Amino acid sequence: MLSNKTIILGITGSIAAYKAAEIASQLIQAGAKVNVIMTKEAIEFISPVTLRAITGRPVVTKMFDLASEFSIEHISLAKAADIVVIAPATANIIAKLAAGIADDMLCCTVLATKAPVLIAPAMETNMYNNPATQDNLSKLKARNFMIIAPATGRLASGKEGPGRLTDITDIIGSIRQVLGRGGDLAGKHILVTAGGTQEPIDPVRYISNRSSGKMGYALAEAARDRGAKVTLITAPTSFPEPVGVDVVKVGTAQEMRQTVENVTPQADALVMAAAVADYRPTKTAKDKIKKGEAGLTLELECTPDILGNVKGNFIKVGFAAESSNLVENAKQKLKQKGLALIVANDITATDSGFGADSNRVTIIDREGKVDSLPLMPKREVADKVLGMVAKLLPKPKSRRPNKL
Ligand SMILES: Cc1cc2nc3c(=O)[nH]c(=O)nc-3n(C[C@H](O)[C@H](O)[C@H](O)COP(=O)(O)O)c2cc1C
Repeated sequence: MLSNKTIILGITGSIAAYKAAEIASQLIQAGAKVNVIMTKEAIEFISPVTLRAITGRPVVTKMFDLASEFSIEHISLAKAADIVVIAPATANIIAKLAAGIADDMLCCTVLATKAPVLIAPAMETNMYNNPATQDNLSKLKARNFMIIAPATGRLASGKEGPGRLTDITDIIGSIRQVLGRGGDLAGKHILVTAGGTQEPIDPVRYISNRSSGKMGYALAEAARDRGAKVTLITAPTSFPEPVGVDVVKVGTAQEMRQTVENVTPQADALVMAAAVADYRPTKTAKDKIKKGEAGLTLELECTPDILGNVKGNFIKVGFAAESSNLVENAKQKLKQKGLALIVANDITATDSGFGADSNRVTIIDREGKVDSLPLMPKREVADKVLGMVAKLLPKPKSRRPNKL
């Protein structure tokens, strides 16, 4: 999705400048072409040689560079860019951009570009909270710059507070989100569920399953990157919340059912990748059950069938984890639950399914068409599924991007 995209990475004179090398590296690995512009203060913190080596492209550090490959640099770079990302962004560059100053190559390029501009501030808490900085950020927001708020954490001074450059994953996620705004799910609301629900036995024990939530999170990110507004309803997982996605955390199948029913009236599609527990204890003990000599017998009851029971004007996509008769069982489930698509995977394979980074799935549609895909990363599976979902959804008269 980042392949064929040209990204300007602006680096300014912050102690967090070294993190820009990792941002550049991740963008390159995702297939983007990265043109780096560094302010003269930035090169005090990290060498242009590092960025030159990572991007394989010349790095712009001066306003007047006759050896450069670009004719009138700020214009040609600005024109070629799909997005401009300034990370880290100092209080100084934020002030200069808010004032429309054009005394270095980065400011000139931002003034000259029609591409979206994304800013990731990094500075001491007092500098960040200063009304001057906050006013400047408000001005930039009002001009449609996208600001990725800094994280709260340990700062270079040793103090804790807001001002730390936000996680690189969130910066890359925001870039993907902005670049995907005109995608085939623009204007659509996709609801994704993820993870294995937990059905409590007592205050410390529960029944669950081996679902990691990876497939659901990959679907949520892929839907975001195709322009959708995304709600992710997630059972407990070890993953951070994906940037640009509305996340609702739930525990039990009953909580997931309630939340799904609350959100589906606004949704265009429900993609149910969560592994909802099929059974739950009939009673939850109020106190921790003491270990005894005699063993313990639990009485279980069925949990609600979320996918089968939820109704409305949206398309339903289900997942089926099967250990035998994959296609037959999946077809039956598709019919029973009134699905538009079912994604079946063979959980006996060791390289795919629960917890793995990749999945080998078979996608079956309502007409009975069976598409058996090779082993591929979960993100690619997500894109295959969402490509089919996009085709099933009515085309908007004009594709209006969702607001960020
Ligand atoms: C060691 C050191 C660390 C700095 N870290 C930051 C920072 O994290 N954020 C910031 O806004 N300014 C920081 N500054 C101040 C900027 O480098 C200074 O405002 C500079 O003029 C920014 O120039 P630029 O925005 O053109 O890159 C730091 C200065 C020093 C000496």
